[in-house]
Amino acid sequence: MSFTVGIVGAGPAGLLLGRLLHRAGIDSVVFENRDRDYVEQRQRAGILEQGTVNTLRAAGAADRLDRLGIPHDGIDLVYDGAAHRVDFVELTGARVWIYAQTEVVKDLIALRLADDLPLLFEAEVQSITLDPPMIHYRHDGQPHTFSCDYIVGCDGFHGVTRDLVPAPVLSRSFPYSWLGILVDAPPVHHELVYAHSRHGFALASMRSPTISRLYLQVPNGTTPDTWPDDRIWSELTTRLTPHTPNEGRITAKSVLPMRASVRQSMQQGPLFLAGDAAHIVPPTGAKGLNLAAHDVTVLAEAFTHLSQTGSPELLDAYTETCLRRIWRAQHFSNTMTTMLHISPDQTEFETQLQLSHLHHTTTSPPTTQSLAENYTGTTPL
Ligand code: PHB
Repeated sequence: MSFTVGIVGAGPAGLLLGRLLHRAGIDSVVFENRDRDYVEQRQRAGILEQGTVNTLRAAGAADRLDRLGIPHDGIDLVYDGAAHRVDFVELTGARVWIYAQTEVVKDLIALRLADDLPLLFEAEVQSITLDPPMIHYRHDGQPHTFSCDYIVGCDGFHGVTRDLVPAPVLSRSFPYSWLGILVDAPPVHHELVYAHSRHGFALASMRSPTISRLYLQVPNGTTPDTWPDDRIWSELTTRLTPHTPNEGRITAKSVLPMRASVRQSMQQGPLFLAGDAAHIVPPTGAKGLNLAAHDVTVLAEAFTHLSQTGSPELLDAYTETCLRRIWRAQHFSNTMTTMLHISPDQTEFETQLQLSHLHHTTTSPPTTQSLAENYTGTTPL
C-alpha cells in the first residue's frame, strides 16, 4: 500500500519519524514554523537512553553521536551533604549517553536535506482538516494546502495539532521551576549529579568535556535577571556539596517550567500525536526526548506494517502501545521530582520523608535497581 504522511514539527520526534519512514520507503513532508537556525539552536535536555541510541543507530543517524556522545555508567545522588553513586551498568547492564537534543536535531536535518527529502522551514501551519486530511499553511507569504493520507503532530506542547484529539488530558503542576545555565567550564563531575538540599534541588549535567549544563530549583514566576552570576555560583556551591562547580562564562540563562501531562488518546482518525504534543514529563527523569523517540518508533513500525500488509491493526493500537511506557516515565519523573525538590510550604516532616526515601533508594539494592532500570529505560513494561 502506498500513502503519504504529513509531519507537523521538525523537532526530534518529527525528524526521526521522517527518517524512519524514509528507511521504510514511505513518503513524508515535514512542516516547521520556525527557521532552521532557531530549531538547531534551541536548548533542551541531553540524556539518551540505550534504546534511543539503538534507534538512532538503526536509522543510520548516529555517526556524530558515536563520535561525540559521552557514555555514562551511573549518576550521583547527593543528600545530607554526601554523594551516593548509582551504578547503572552493574544493576541493569545498560548505560545512557550525554548527547544534546539540539545535536540530534542537527544530525537529522542534515540527513534529510542530503537525501533531498521535503522539509519546509518557516511554514506556518494555520489549520488542519481531518476529513479529508489536509494541512493548510503559509510559506513565502503565500497560503498553501497539502493533501495527504495521514498527519502526525510532532509540534510540541504549544502546537496546533494536540487540540484536534478531543481526549481528556490528565495533568499536574509543580510549585517550582528550573533555572538552567550553560557554562564554558568543565563539568562538575564525570557523571550527572542530582542534589537534594534544604536550599532546593540542583542538577549538574554537561554538554561536552568543556561545557557544563547546570540547573537550580527556583520559585515559579522567576525571571533570569533576578539571578546574577554570583548568586548562581553561590547557590550551586551550597546545593551541590560535596561537589564543587567549576566557574566559567555563563553563555545562556533561562527558566523552565515543570509540568506533567498525558493526553488519554494520541490519535483521532488519520491524525496521530507524538512526543510533547501528547505528553509532558517534568525534566528530573530526563525522559522527554526518549519518550518522543519511542512514540515515533512505534508509529513508524505501524506505518511500515500498513504499507507491507495493508492492515491498520498496529496503527489502531498506537495509543495503547505507547501509554504504558509513558505512564512508567511519568511515575518515575514525578517520583524523582518530589523526592528531590523542596516545596514552598514544605514541613520538616516532609523533608525527613524525602531524606528517608533517598537513604532507602541508595541503600536498599532492589530500590536502587528500580531507579537504575527506570533511568536507563530498561524496566519491564
Ligand atoms: C540536561 O543535561 O539538560 C539534563 C540532564 C538530566 C536531566 C535533565 C536535563 O534530568
